Amino acid sequence: MNIVLTGFMASGKTEVSKAVASMSKYKLIDTDDMIVEKEGMSINEIFERHGEEYFRRTEHECVCRAAAMDNMVIATGGGVVLNKSNIDALRKNGMIFNLAPDFEVIEERLAGAAATRPLLRKGGLEDVRRRFNDRLPFYKDCDYSVHVIKGRTPQSYAMEILAEMEKARV
Ligand code: S3P
Repeated sequence: MNIVLTGFMASGKTEVSKAVASMSKYKLIDTDDMIVEKEGMSINEIFERHGEEYFRRTEHECVCRAAAMDNMVIATGGGVVLNKSNIDALRKNGMIFNLAPDFEVIEERLAGAAATRPLLRKGGLEDVRRRFNDRLPFYKDCDYSVHVIKGRTPQSYAMEILAEMEKARV
């Protein structure tokens, strides 16, 4: 079984997935990293050169490759939930965890991050807020929702996630 982490950008998927991997037997894989490696350019460049639709197609290919692995903690990009076939593939051999912060937490974490985030760069914070609200129903399609609050460590979320995985096994 895999542990799949979903959640809006800056919800903490990268840090929490690293903590899960370091505290368990699960090996870490990040679908954004797979995309960058496959395309040989940054996510920003993929958006700029080929557009979002192309990015989403590549993302789907990488998600399917990750979903076919086993005993992985899979960190996904914030938009993975938008394509139901991504979630269907990931759920076949995985439990889907959603990291769910309030928008204020995202806003604080994104301050000054425009250079590295194509969506923030393109539409600014208001566009990001709109996407956040539009996506809430998609993030609800998970097996377990983790409420993200300011000040809690990645390790404490990882412990919660690993405990849920144990429960699901028995
Ligand atoms: C995206 C989130 C990013 C990355 C891409 C698109 C999104 O991943 O996949 O920029 O649509 O929310 P993170 O959630 O890891 O920032």
